[in-house]
Amino acid sequence: MRSVRGTKDLYDQDLNCFRYICNQAQALATLYGFKEIQTPIMEYTEVFLKPLGEDSDIVGKEMYTFPDRGGESLTLRPEGTAPMIRSMLTSGLIHQLPQKRFTYGPFFRYERPQKGRQRQFHQISVEYVGEKSYLADVEILAFAYRLLKKINVQDFALHLNTLGDFESRKQYREHLVTYLTQYKDELSEDSQRRLEKNPLRILDSKNEGDQKICENAPRLKDFLTTDSKVFFEQICESLNKLDIPFIENTSLVRGLDYYCHTVFEFKSTALGAQDTLLGGGRYDGLIKMMGGADVPSVGFGCGLERLMLACQVPEEKGYDLKVVLCPESEAQKMTCLELAQKIRNCNIACEIIHPGPIQKRIQLAENMQAHFFCFVGSQEQENQEFMFKVLKPTAHLYNLPSFEKKISIESFLNNDQLKKVR
Ligand code: HAM
Repeated sequence: MRSVRGTKDLYDQDLNCFRYICNQAQALATLYGFKEIQTPIMEYTEVFLKPLGEDSDIVGKEMYTFPDRGGESLTLRPEGTAPMIRSMLTSGLIHQLPQKRFTYGPFFRYERPQKGRQRQFHQISVEYVGEKSYLADVEILAFAYRLLKKINVQDFALHLNTLGDFESRKQYREHLVTYLTQYKDELSEDSQRRLEKNPLRILDSKNEGDQKICENAPRLKDFLTTDSKVFFEQICESLNKLDIPFIENTSLVRGLDYYCHTVFEFKSTALGAQDTLLGGGRYDGLIKMMGGADVPSVGFGCGLERLMLACQVPEEKGYDLKVVLCPESEAQKMTCLELAQKIRNCNIACEIIHPGPIQKRIQLAENMQAHFFCFVGSQEQENQEFMFKVLKPTAHLYNLPSFEKKISIESFLNNDQLKKVR
């Protein structure tokens, strides 16, 4: 048996880290006024085709698309923005603007798996829908920055650019195409194809030859309309005021069709080739394209697997106190079950282990980070009195009572010193 290529099982430390990040993001979302929304992992394929761009890598090469048994074309969601907007349109939430929403969960792209890149990955996706002011962009950027700080991501940098408004891009497009056409034969196959349909994408090409050609290409910055310039300046100024450092990166265009004005990525040197932790931008035309009104919006998506590689998570604390019960044999198991129930009802963690040589059992309980070890033999069972042995490795954590003699479970649970620790 194998797991599907590019997918991963999560357990123990990894799962702990995963949950920690989700919890921190959720808590932060509340602070910034974003409410959760959960959408299905599959959508009708049309939800993604136009919004992401038929010419995008995602639509062209990466979507998991299949006909269902009724012949409808479905797609496992490759990203979170289009489904969230679809959901706001179908539920009517789009009429109660602004909508500040976030979601997290699994996403799917058929990509070549490598460190930080999977076929089933997880994203936290945050969207600010219905606000045209630069304030929304800054709030989104401040949220993203704070999230990375909060989970202790080391060495990251915010790369920021503007794609301007429609008018700016129209002007720029003409000049860019004229420039790139001179090098048409030298461009990669993908870029040659994009020259007609989507020349801006060529600026984002990973091909070294393309990158060299683009070094001397005209820059969008020089074609921005006054409005677009002012909009971007307001964002930069605000980030400076909020002490959020950034690098202006004029070659950043992002791979999806729906962006305009602000685009950004947070990159980390801790990651290797897949160095983008988080990416997003403004997408003012998307909702209209999906059949809604002209509603301006901005947001970001953040890869959980990449955050997990770059962040530092505190050790899981679990319950404060833990008791391990060890039955002498099969005959004491029922007593152990009853004891465990009483202990857990008092909010103290408890586990029952298999009978075995006592020293080895104590060692096992220590490995389980337990505080008390309780052997349940036939005598203990008969008298209903037990020895609660304090385990050395965890004894220093609290001022634990030491029980010198056997006592009833009620005396153990009602011990004043123990109650203080609980
Ligand atoms: P994206 O740049 O395609 O944007 O993805 C956002 C983030 O998801 C990436 O920066 C990366 O951390 C993570 N990611 C993407 N693909 C993979 C993969 N195969 N394996 C692991 N992690 C991956 C979007 O998805 C946009 N919807 C973001 C957005 C929201 N823009 C506006 N609002």
